[in-house]
Amino acid sequence: MRLIVAGTDTDVGKTVVSALLVQGLAAHYWKPVQSGLADGSDSQWVREMLSLPPGRILKESYRLQAPVSPHWAAEQEQVVLDPQRLALPAGNEPLVVETAGGVMTPMGRDWLQIDQIRRWGLPLVLVARSGLGTLNHTMLTLEALRHRSIPVLGLVLNGSLHPDNPRTLADLGGVPVLAQLPRLEPLNALALQRHWQESDLSENLRP
Ligand SMILES: Nc1ncnc2c1ncn2[C@@H]1O[C@H](COP(=O)(O)OP(=O)(O)OP(=O)(O)O)[C@@H](O)[C@H]1O
Ligand SMILES: [Mg+2]
Repeated sequence: MRLIVAGTDTDVGKTVVSALLVQGLAAHYWKPVQSGLADGSDSQWVREMLSLPPGRILKESYRLQAPVSPHWAAEQEQVVLDPQRLALPAGNEPLVVETAGGVMTPMGRDWLQIDQIRRWGLPLVLVARSGLGTLNHTMLTLEALRHRSIPVLGLVLNGSLHPDNPRTLADLGGVPVLAQLPRLEPLNALALQRHWQESDLSENLRP
């Protein structure tokens, strides 16, 4: 299975959920556009969290220093992001592709992350916050994805379990909630493994 992990925003937990999926699916991991290298890269985080051999992490297409939107981080390095360099790697091993920011995050002055998601043509898992603010962000994101006929496998809600949001999002968003990932303390490979086994992800995403 090759899939995209997208988020309703930056910092919603895409990397943590990607690690959950990479481990559960025994997949390779790819973060094609990384900005904010000063804070460490997502690839490095996934590799260390899961103790993966280097071969399980594909090399980023772009590694940008500034911790800002890719379009602006690229400008600061006189780089123009080229969709051709973002083409999916060959092969059909399981693959988790982590996108940058939210789906409408700009990759250049005239194109967005969601344009690339559409070109990839892979199904998508949307990571959203579990709590207050998620209904609006998640439904707007789903509407944008649907508008472009991008297939959505479902949602992963990240953070403290919420008594009503999963139901509301499933009903009004029209996609299943595949997993609810509470704040993990400690956050480690074993905790992720446990949640993989407990969640519907292991059933719904099994190749
Ligand atoms: N379920 C969780 N349990 C514990 N910590 C978490 C959890 N989800 C996210 N975090 C922490 O919150 C922070 C943001 O999460 P993460 O890096 O996965 O977000 P992101 O959406 O990948 O951000 P970016 O847009 O920068 O790629 C990280 O420090 C991460 O370790
Ligand atoms: Mg990330």
